[in-house]
Amino acid sequence: ALRGVVALDGPSGTGKTTVARKLAQRLSAGYLDTGAMYRVITLAVLRAGVDPADAAAVTAVAKDTEFSVGTDPERPSVALGAEDVSAAIRGNDINHAVSPVSAVPAVRELLVARQRRIIDEVLAVVGGIVVEGRDIGTVVAPDAPLKVFLTASPEVRAARRSAQDTAAGRESSQADARASVDRRDRLDSSRAASPLRPAEDAVHLDTSELEIDQVIVALRELADHRG
Ligand code: C5P
Repeated sequence: ALRGVVALDGPSGTGKTTVARKLAQRLSAGYLDTGAMYRVITLAVLRAGVDPADAAAVTAVAKDTEFSVGTDPERPSVALGAEDVSAAIRGNDINHAVSPVSAVPAVRELLVARQRRIIDEVLAVVGGIVVEGRDIGTVVAPDAPLKVFLTASPEVRAARRSAQDTAAGRESSQADARASVDRRDRLDSSRAASPLRPAEDAVHLDTSELEIDQVIVALRELADHRG
């Protein structure tokens, strides 16, 4: 079983979520989807009728929002209050608004503190956790023994995102998916507060040509050596 934190960062459409969950299952570890936390705050912002670009108003919503995220890789759950919002946080409205919300420094402070608490709790109970996001290796868990930065070509990422949308019953063309993925990566990489970037000691893995199971094999090997 895994000891400590595996930090899994990278842009969208790299297979991060699928890989993180499977890896956690195989390593009998916990799992934390930090993107889901930014998404649930974004859902609360939109429901409150607040402009995602209004940092002060967004911060106020974030402070007031009661939410929870599960850490079992078999059934990840996200709740806003008592409502299961696992599907609602994947909508296009959320994809569009999440980057401005997650660029607000006070929102990040709040969520990073919460993420560290969750990580500590899981480590105390199961001993290992796979954490996925954009700033896990750089900010949330800079001491993680294994940091991985997943990449994939823009074409592959757009195709994966579009397939995910279609599988979830949302309308999606590859061109739309490409535009949406590109826009989010540009915003996430260029923001001032903890932009998307690899940690200096991260292992880079290009998943364009790999099946999920091949990625898992590569990561398990790394985890055996470093974890
Ligand atoms: O990983 P996912 O696509 O669900 O993340 C949604 C958004 O949340 C990202 O595009 C990014 O704006 C934000 N995010 C972040 N830091 C993280 C995880 C996600 O800023 N650690």
